[in-house]
Amino acid sequence: FVAPTEVGEDGSILAKDINGNLIPASQILAEPPGTRALVAGLGAEPTYLTIQSDDTLHPWGIVDNCTHLGCTFPWNPNDNQFQCPCHGSRYDPDGRVVRGPAPLPLKLVSVNLEGEYIRISPWTGIDPRTGQKPWWV
Ligand code: FES
Repeated sequence: FVAPTEVGEDGSILAKDINGNLIPASQILAEPPGTRALVAGLGAEPTYLTIQSDDTLHPWGIVDNCTHLGCTFPWNPNDNQFQCPCHGSRYDPDGRVVRGPAPLPLKLVSVNLEGEYIRISPWTGIDPRTGQKPWWV
């Protein structure tokens, strides 16, 4: 057994739980489709992973940090939105602003399976939601 490298040269990390333990991908993927699973991502920032309808992980994770003033926020499955409790900002399932005062879409990270674990990397491409360079790069 070779332990996976936890920190990659590109600054990527393996997803952990709130106690700092690596999370097996199988644990996340056992959740039903549509689940937003909160993990510790880059810089230990809480990050939502999405279970897709085909029981795979969505290739991007959404950082749980409101672009207004940085509150964390829950996923509301009934409204199909992320809803910030601090000042009422709302985001669609891809992290686009539906209602302000949040000025910008939520930050993305790249999500890939690596053996038993989930690698989270800095987002380097264009923002697929805007077709432009990400505001956070
Ligand atoms: Fe989220 Fe203000 S910090 S709406």
